[in-house]
Amino acid sequence: MSIEEGKETTAFIRPAVQSSRPFPLRLLQFFVLFLVLGIAFSVLSMYYFGVKNVVTNARINFQPCFEEPITLEHWIKPPNKLMHKMSDKELFWRASFVPRVKKYPFKRVPKVAFMFLTRGPLPFAPLWERFLKGNEGLYSIYIHSLPTYHDNFLQSSVFYKKQIPSQVTEWGKMSLCDAERRLLANALLDISNERFVLVSESCIPLYNFSIIYQYLMRSMYSFIGAFDDPGPYGRGRYNEKMAPEVNITQWRKASQWFEVNRKVAVNIVEDTKFYPKFEEFCRPACYVDEHYFPTMLTIQAGHLLANRTITWVDWSRGGAHPATFGKTDITEAFVKRMLEGHNCLYNNQPTPVCFLFARKFAPSALGPLLEFADNFGY
Ligand SMILES: *[C@@H]1O[C@H](CO)[C@@H](O)[C@H](O)[C@H]1NC(C)=O
Ligand SMILES: *[C@@H]1O[C@H](CO)[C@@H](O)[C@H](O)[C@H]1NC(C)=O
Ligand SMILES: *[C@@H]1O[C@H](CO)[C@@H](O)[C@H](O)[C@H]1NC(C)=O
Repeated sequence: MSIEEGKETTAFIRPAVQSSRPFPLRLLQFFVLFLVLGIAFSVLSMYYFGVKNVVTNARINFQPCFEEPITLEHWIKPPNKLMHKMSDKELFWRASFVPRVKKYPFKRVPKVAFMFLTRGPLPFAPLWERFLKGNEGLYSIYIHSLPTYHDNFLQSSVFYKKQIPSQVTEWGKMSLCDAERRLLANALLDISNERFVLVSESCIPLYNFSIIYQYLMRSMYSFIGAFDDPGPYGRGRYNEKMAPEVNITQWRKASQWFEVNRKVAVNIVEDTKFYPKFEEFCRPACYVDEHYFPTMLTIQAGHLLANRTITWVDWSRGGAHPATFGKTDITEAFVKRMLEGHNCLYNNQPTPVCFLFARKFAPSALGPLLEFADNFGY
């Protein structure tokens, strides 16, 4: 039917055209001129007034056509800036995300996250630079300092723009544990981070990177020096109001300088059960940074703890603080003392390699320590 109608229409028009008189040339010229002027005017007015709107509208209307499809990359690439506007609450929530499928659908190269808990400058930065050199892609760095402190590392430094959003901390108080959790949470945002080492500005590595990397990656345990101290500075600090969440047989003490794997890091960041108990009932003279993590983890993940530290420190001089070593202390005999004569268990086997890091050093020790860097193998 429609084909027939079409035919008829054509048949109807053709005779009309044929029958019309030839168009006057003058009139045609006039129309062409008018057309050209009209086009020119509309093009000009579009450029002067309309283009911006037209383009913007086009962008809004057609956005879906240009949007890149979401790839796996979108979910696994770490944030490209460490500074963010998340509150601790928001950050800890985000950092506690854990994949349920255990096998990664991509080649994941596990990294060591070095988390620097500092007040300001890093006097041993040159030593760390030397230690880390050539191992890009196998480590990450996070720095928690006083919120008012802004470091000025050059772009070529491994420490360039590694500060995380920080808050004031007081030694022996919960704000110190908060800072440590903040470091862990920021480091957890990078899915490649597998081992998390807490270090201070007075801390140095005792072996080269490959030895430390292998040691941590192959360890079945996390290194927290948790122990049960029956004395006044151990169980003596326990408060019965912490029960039933914490009972005195579970009460532990440890130095705050820990090394944990990803699973244990999540345990620390996700905790809302023990935190309020420690915050309320462990205040000076109960130094919460010595008890909260070791006690909580002994209860939650005791079988994952090596119950020893990998950070060497010297208590032999006695007193409330460990010895700090300066320029004149750094001798060959001293370096030997840090590296040799130890005995401990690694994956349940005896080993003489017990300490991977050492503290505490005064800034004056940098020069002599750099000279001994060969002894440390870096
Ligand atoms: C690290 O130190 C070990 C032992 O000292 C050595 O065998 C190894 O070659 C060193 N690795 C690098 C990359 O320097
Ligand atoms: C603490 O826990 C242990 C082991 O679960 C239990 O044997 C002990 O009775 C508890 N002690 C107290 C005071 O509740
Ligand atoms: C560390 O201590 C916990 C309990 O306090 C225990 O379950 C765990 O087996 C210990 N770790 C090692 C490596 O012995």
